[in-house]
Amino acid sequence: MKRNKIVAGNWKLNYGPKAGAEFALELRKKLLDTPGVQIILCPPFLALSPVRKAVEGTRIAVGAQNMHFAESGAFTGEIAGSMIKETGADYVILGHSERRHVFGEDNEMIGHKVARSLKDGLKPILCVGETIEERKAEQTMSIVAKQLRAGLADVSAAQMDEVLIAYEPVWAIGTGLTASPEQADKVHRFIRKELQDLYGEEVAAKTPILYGGSVKPDNTKGLLSNEDIDGALVGGAALKVESFAGIVSEAAALS
Ligand code: PGA
Repeated sequence: MKRNKIVAGNWKLNYGPKAGAEFALELRKKLLDTPGVQIILCPPFLALSPVRKAVEGTRIAVGAQNMHFAESGAFTGEIAGSMIKETGADYVILGHSERRHVFGEDNEMIGHKVARSLKDGLKPILCVGETIEERKAEQTMSIVAKQLRAGLADVSAAQMDEVLIAYEPVWAIGTGLTASPEQADKVHRFIRKELQDLYGEEVAAKTPILYGGSVKPDNTKGLLSNEDIDGALVGGAALKVESFAGIVSEAAALS
C-alpha cells in the first residue's frame, strides 16, 4: 500500500511563541512546491497557538510534544489534550524517549495518554525504541513490542485511523548516529507485523510508521526509500528552516 510521506519536526525545548511563529512563517514561504508530504511542526506548548496561526491555510499541521493523561484535575503544571486541541493543533507526540528516560514515564502511563489523546480528538504519534544496551543484548524487538502493545492497550481498530507510530532508537537520538536504512527497515517491518497481529492486515497496512534519530537532509532518501518507513520525526535538523525544508524536499521526491 502506498502511504504519503510525513515529516514532523520536534522542537523540544526550543523556540517560544515569537521565534516559533517566525520560524513557521519562513518555512511556509519556502515550502510552496512540496505537495504530497504531510508536514507537522511540534513546538513547545506556549508556541502552539502562534505557530498554528502562522501556518493557517497551508497543509502544515501542528502538534504538541506531550500531554497529561487526565481530562482535568489537580495536576499542577500539566496540560490537557483538550487544551492542545483548542489551539488548533491536531497531533501530539507521546512516549518520546526523553519523556521515558528523563521524566520517568512508563509504558502504562503512556498507554493512558494515548487513549486520552484520541478521546480529545488528537492524533497521537506514539514513540518506541530501544537503548544501546537493549540493542546489544538483542532485546530490540521485545522492547519495541512491549512499548507498542502497552501504548496501544486501549486503542480500538477503528481508532487506529488516527494513530501514528515513530520508531526512534534511543542511541540515535541527538547523537549523530543514525540507524542504517537496513536496521531501521527491519524494525519497521517488525512493527507492522505486530500491528497486523493486534489489528489485522488492513490497519497494519495503513498505519504510518515514522523513523526518528539524527535524520538530516543527506540521510533522508536512504531511510525513507524503504516501503515501510513512512516519514521522519526530526529533532536537531528541524531547528533550522534550511535543513528541515531539505528533509521535506527529499521526502517529496519520494512521494
Ligand atoms: P534528533 O531527535 O533528530 O535530534 O536525533 C529526534 C527526536 O528526538 O525526535
